[in-house]
Amino acid sequence: MVAQKITIEPVTRIEGHAKVTVRMNAAGKVDHAYLHVNEFRGFEKFCEGRMVFEMPLITPRICGICPVSHHLASAKAGDDVLGAPPPRPANLLRELMHMGQIVQSHGMHFFELAGPDLLLGFDSDPALRNVVGLLQANPDLTVKAVQLRKWGQEIIHILGGRRVHPNFAIPGGVNKALTKAERETILAGYDDALATTMAAIKIMQGWAEANMEDINKFGVFPTGYFGLVKPGNTLELYDGEIRLTSSTGKELEKFDPRNYLDYIAEHVENWSYLKFPYYKKLGYPGGVYRVGPLGRLNNSDRMATPLADAELKKFKQLNGGKPVENTLHYHTARLIETVYAIENVKVLLEDPDILSNDILNTCRDPKPYGVGVIEAPRGTLIHHYWMNENQQIEKVNLIVSTGHNNWAMSEAVDSVAKTYIPDANHVTEGMLNRVEAAIRAHDPCLSCSTHAVGQMPIVLEIRDSADQLVNTITRD
Ligand code: MG
Ligand code: NI
Repeated sequence: MVAQKITIEPVTRIEGHAKVTVRMNAAGKVDHAYLHVNEFRGFEKFCEGRMVFEMPLITPRICGICPVSHHLASAKAGDDVLGAPPPRPANLLRELMHMGQIVQSHGMHFFELAGPDLLLGFDSDPALRNVVGLLQANPDLTVKAVQLRKWGQEIIHILGGRRVHPNFAIPGGVNKALTKAERETILAGYDDALATTMAAIKIMQGWAEANMEDINKFGVFPTGYFGLVKPGNTLELYDGEIRLTSSTGKELEKFDPRNYLDYIAEHVENWSYLKFPYYKKLGYPGGVYRVGPLGRLNNSDRMATPLADAELKKFKQLNGGKPVENTLHYHTARLIETVYAIENVKVLLEDPDILSNDILNTCRDPKPYGVGVIEAPRGTLIHHYWMNENQQIEKVNLIVSTGHNNWAMSEAVDSVAKTYIPDANHVTEGMLNRVEAAIRAHDPCLSCSTHAVGQMPIVLEIRDSADQLVNTITRD
């Protein structure tokens, strides 16, 4: 029999444009599955010549999905390059906006993007495996999920003046203080947001117990783990040191994010526009690592808020205290971070400095370059700007969250295809959906990763060993 290759197009319920190719061998079994990211718009080049202070408004245009993360990372790079550390109240307000983004992004992912697979089943009718199906199956929870997301968006809206592309953080601070009335508005939604997320955690734990077999054979593999931490290896999302731990949970490095180029490099493959970052000392692919919720929880010893910390302790027991390697536990980790973000909103709002008008440092001590790093919902986001004496951008390097996870996503796609597709003649929609779900678990933002604008679908194709297209699968 002729060897074959399957390509999935579009990969649904992810943000961006990519293609999966499943190459079959002559025996009709999966030889290897590849994730290709094929879009490139060159946003780094596009920024050259712009003024540094414009960057927090330009870079959110990279992506309609993660504009707040780019906005904040860009402002932090601006603080650094202009030598203008923000006053404490401004940092609290930026962090508050960031928590709003985490809640709305993680909340949407669990309920709307991952939820249909988990709550309705990987093999359920694809016509109903979406929010419409969820609404029919559990209207109460679906409505609460929408309210959770809205609460996150409301925080962004109150601070940034708009729901999508905010105008709030500027080098040296922020351009608007928080009023007492605005603080009360946000606090009014706190209890419901927390209750919905705790309910989601129960659902996820129940699902995991009932689907142990899937959890344990669906994309389980060792990597390093990477993310920001505060002292005590406390999970951190807005500002801290970068910590890198090994596949066995040992600390490999802890460093000032400004020095990231000393520790990580990017590998290039000719079949993807998305580069593959890795830890230099271990080389490629020995030095690959995961970021985002699973990466951060494996990389942290504690969380700063009580309910999230209690959930982290349970998470650590999933693999007897060793790093949790299961791709599907990205969902568990994402919900635990959502609890932290919600609890942290309250901590920030109860800080006496949060209503202060001391929100901008206008002193300047410019340097030739500056770095801003933040933990975006999907993982570590790095903005690095080089500036001339007129404060114009000379060069930009962006390393986005999804990029760090490129190797892990590719590995998960290959592993899940080999586990679930028995042979080329017995490919079901449910199998292909699992291959997509392997990507989806990482919540990739492919618009960001390729620095492209807009959202496009993915493709799944089957090709034989001579690279002849045998079948292409697309869905609406
Ligand atoms: Mg780059
Ligand atoms: Ni994005």
